[in-house]
Amino acid sequence: MEGEASKTKTVCVTGAGGFVGSWLVRRLLSTGEYTVHGTVRDLGDRRTGHLKALDGAGERLRLFKADVLDYAGVAYAVSGCGGVFHVASPVPADKPQNPEVEVLAPAVRGTQNVLKACHQAKVGRVVVVSSAAAVAMNPGFPRDAVLDEDAWSDEDHCRTTGMWYALSKTLAEREALAYAEKTGLDVVTVCPPLVLGPLLQRVANTSSLVLVNLLKGDRDTVEDKARNAVDVRDLADALVLAYETPEASGRYICGAYRKKLSEMVDIVKSFYPDLTRPMKFVEGEEERMMSSKKLQALGWKLRAVEECLRDSVESYKAAGLLPE
Ligand SMILES: NC(=O)c1ccc[n+]([C@@H]2O[C@H](COP(=O)([O-])OP(=O)(O)OC[C@H]3O[C@@H](n4cnc5c(N)ncnc54)[C@H](OP(=O)(O)O)[C@@H]3O)[C@@H](O)[C@H]2O)c1
Repeated sequence: MEGEASKTKTVCVTGAGGFVGSWLVRRLLSTGEYTVHGTVRDLGDRRTGHLKALDGAGERLRLFKADVLDYAGVAYAVSGCGGVFHVASPVPADKPQNPEVEVLAPAVRGTQNVLKACHQAKVGRVVVVSSAAAVAMNPGFPRDAVLDEDAWSDEDHCRTTGMWYALSKTLAEREALAYAEKTGLDVVTVCPPLVLGPLLQRVANTSSLVLVNLLKGDRDTVEDKARNAVDVRDLADALVLAYETPEASGRYICGAYRKKLSEMVDIVKSFYPDLTRPMKFVEGEEERMMSSKKLQALGWKLRAVEECLRDSVESYKAAGLLPE
């Protein structure tokens, strides 16, 4: 019995050194209850120093070097775990040269490897980080629809328009849910939109650079789209909630707020009046509206947009990404 209990409290996080992975590891360690196996591709200090410095890491964090394309490496990290959070997946900043190799294979084959390893290791639940990009990229949806968990991005549309990231997340999430159906493995997926919030890791990730570059004034004119977003700390809470709530099942959209880029800049200006350059906003295509009611029904709480943006900017300044 003791063995079973300790297995439930040992969990694996793939992609532990990334933006979302790092906050999830911190959240799990902070409970004092979990031992965490974290997979990283590079054990060097630049990618893992921030993880080793977390409270509780010395006693309860074990790092494993594993590419998700390497089944044996993944299986080794997952063995002995009661739960697995599959976070690792490429989030390209630029258009990939070879989408199949750079994006689709790690997302889809990586997910297959993680799920197979979990099934073999008799893992109790797998929480897969998918994306709003797997929900909303579908020209068939009416513009004013509020999307829920029944909505799926259209794979052909993603392929023909070169939305490789959206395609990778759609294929990987479908694969995860189909694998669960086929094998009985307990899989829950969580679909966040743009993730913002303070950085823990040293290497800035793609979604944080969206806000950094906007505030740096990298473009003369900015398409003033409404964007759905969530704070990385609230996403980490949602992932743990999806793991710990026995009745959680299927997909969960995890969006906290929806703001036009000009509104986000105005909020930042209210805290840091000197930070932003003058920008010209032009009307842009809106992102789809989506509902996180299913996640909120599990008890998910989220912070205000002001707190998210203020803490994001504070951390970008501290990291030297924005001027002090
Ligand atoms: N940030 C967002 O706005 C957002 C929105 C929706 C969903 N998501 C999802 O959230 C997850 C984490 O993204 P993030 O924002 O935290 O980006 P990130 O900081 O770039 O993290 C991505 C992670 O995936 C790992 N990875 C990529 N390819 C891998 C491979 N072949 N083998 C092993 N690990 C691999 C990276 O490892 P290395 O550190 O070794 O590169 C990194 O740890 C992804 O699944 C992403 O699709 C993010």
